[in-house]
Amino acid sequence: MARRILAAGNWKMNKTPSETKALIAEMAPAVASDEVDVLLCVPAIDIPAAVEAAKGTNIAIGGENLYFEESGAYTGEISAEMLVDAGATYVIMGHSERRDYFGETDEDVNKKVIKALEHNLVPVMCCGESLTQREQGITMDWIRQQVKIGLLNVSAEDVKKVVIAYEPIWAIGTGKTATADQAEEVCKGIRDLLRELYGDAVAEEVRVLYGGSVNPGNAAELFAKEDIDGGLVGGASLKTSFGEIVNYNK
Ligand code: G3P
Repeated sequence: MARRILAAGNWKMNKTPSETKALIAEMAPAVASDEVDVLLCVPAIDIPAAVEAAKGTNIAIGGENLYFEESGAYTGEISAEMLVDAGATYVIMGHSERRDYFGETDEDVNKKVIKALEHNLVPVMCCGESLTQREQGITMDWIRQQVKIGLLNVSAEDVKKVVIAYEPIWAIGTGKTATADQAEEVCKGIRDLLRELYGDAVAEEVRVLYGGSVNPGNAAELFAKEDIDGGLVGGASLKTSFGEIVNYNK
């Protein structure tokens, strides 16, 4: 089946609310598309400004993280309800930087996926191997474990709402993009796992993105791959040339 390409930006810890407003206003004409879905995941403090600036455009706004409890004594955390009320419609969980710096586990990711789905947020669930794991030849074993645990107790109906982002850690922020074949191999492996867990029809519906030094020069080759349904883009989404990734086939 034809899955719509999703060009998703992950701004990480960049841009103030004022800068967010200005950048989205500048970027909006460049990322206009009736074929590709466009998403910008921004720091929580920027979400209201981003939602306001994105009004009347094709840009959806997402968060970069959420906590898996409804509310309470979790200083500094953000709830799903807060994200929804602020106008976010997507949320990233399990990014390798949060796993690395903040000790996020596969089990935490699973709780976040379930909490996001409970609040009708589209989960963007990240997975990815280290260079050592790739060199040891255990990439697919590692990814399968991350995805299996991340999707524990997620129904077939709900998993169709989940976006999975494969981001090899060694390609993030390094300019060293995985080759299109390397990316396709893992994204196909993820889809094969979804087939095992949920059957063919559901596996064909789930969008699987590649992330890790995506740029206007490599987006077309990556997105043309059978099992790659777009990109989760860091640095290149902070520039108006993100529009060249959105319009990769033009
Ligand atoms: O979540 C996307 C990010 O990890 C990729 O970053 O800068 O390599 O595109 P970048």
